[in-house]
Amino acid sequence: MIARDKSTALFEEAKTLFPGGVSSPVRAFRSVEGAPLFMQRGEGALVWDEDGNQFIDYCCSWGPLILGHADKRVTQAVQEALVKGTSFGTPTRYENIMGQLIINNHRFIEKLRFVSSGTEAVMSAIRLARGYTGRNKIIKFEGCYHGHSDALLVKAGSGLVTLGETSSKGVPAAFANETIVVELDDEAAISSAIEQYPNDIACIIIEPVPANNGLLLQRKEYLQFLRNICDKHNIILLFDEVISGFRLGFEGASGLYNIQPDLITFGKIIGGGLPVGAYGGKKEIMGMVSPDGPVYQAGTLSGNPLSISAGIAQLQACLTSGFYEELHRKCRIIADKVNRFTAEAKLPFNILTTGSIFWLNFTEDCVIRKASDIKSTMPALFKPFHRYLLEHGIYIGPSGYEVCFVSAAHTDEQLEQTADIIMQAITHTFQK
Ligand SMILES: Cc1ncc(COP(=O)(O)O)c(C=O)c1O
Repeated sequence: MIARDKSTALFEEAKTLFPGGVSSPVRAFRSVEGAPLFMQRGEGALVWDEDGNQFIDYCCSWGPLILGHADKRVTQAVQEALVKGTSFGTPTRYENIMGQLIINNHRFIEKLRFVSSGTEAVMSAIRLARGYTGRNKIIKFEGCYHGHSDALLVKAGSGLVTLGETSSKGVPAAFANETIVVELDDEAAISSAIEQYPNDIACIIIEPVPANNGLLLQRKEYLQFLRNICDKHNIILLFDEVISGFRLGFEGASGLYNIQPDLITFGKIIGGGLPVGAYGGKKEIMGMVSPDGPVYQAGTLSGNPLSISAGIAQLQACLTSGFYEELHRKCRIIADKVNRFTAEAKLPFNILTTGSIFWLNFTEDCVIRKASDIKSTMPALFKPFHRYLLEHGIYIGPSGYEVCFVSAAHTDEQLEQTADIIMQAITHTFQK
């Protein structure tokens, strides 16, 4: 058993200070065993907790750390910016550098605006879609998570599904009524929602690679169908790429599928582990944002020099030749080895991947496209599995609905070792 005394004591104290003892719900370890691990430091692919345990980390701060922990390029950039001042409330040259980096290397971003989180990016993009179209309703998909703004906490994934709820209390019915929720991978459901409200739908928002309720990889034809139906009805197509942006390639899922959304939201990777978000897309639509246009959106710390410096360093690394090919190869080391093993052993488990994202799928199915396809037995299987991984030095997010991330810092040796431990954990789980 790994020592958890210090984490447990810190958690007991934290519970007297914060709801659930945490600053974000999934961190509370409610769906797995024991107290959450309080992390102390990280380096490359490794993290160490307060009890001195070392782990190979596949949470990677839930996605932002594509270069791993404390990457020198990122920490140096932040240090250089830090000594010059933490925030000015004025424009800085960092924003221009980052803006050019993105716009020059991403076909679908003509203009963008920096904000401070993914939630804020999505909330602002939805307001923009409504302002631009003059319509109120939005369509979202069951299991897709888009942050915690009111309109989007309806049948969402991530922490809500982990805690067994899919919608949040405190969202007025009048707001929720403006959000139409449909299942993924169902063309007829979209067509009938649009038929019902032909002139009221401002936007369709989707994670083009839904990764907050398992990994629900969509058919390209389905995403293209969404593009076409949006064009036909003058609806904004909004790709929420807070996870997939700069992760699946520099152009994210939009580039991977070669589908141009009208707006894209970003977060995570563009901040290098510091708080950040952004939304952008077609110039004509972004021209509606204040002060150029009538859609208001602002932020005291928007474009913060530390976050943007970290983001510049990280994105520059992502742009180096062969970066994504190498990252994707690394992810396949785990998936291929484990999948060969479970196929041969005929165990109902496989690893689903796209790029450097992987998800532990506790079924024999290799295609899972909808939230409702995930079996209700999964959380019970995930619990002993998660414990086994922790006991053997592997840290993944404490929920079976969450995906894992491989960073450029993971070595082949660490990945091979992880695959071996996952295989042991599966055997252990299914023997129970
Ligand atoms: C797809 C997606 N959109 C939006 C968000 C919200 O981002 P943040 O947690 O930075 O507010 C998340 C967070 O995980 C996300 O995965």
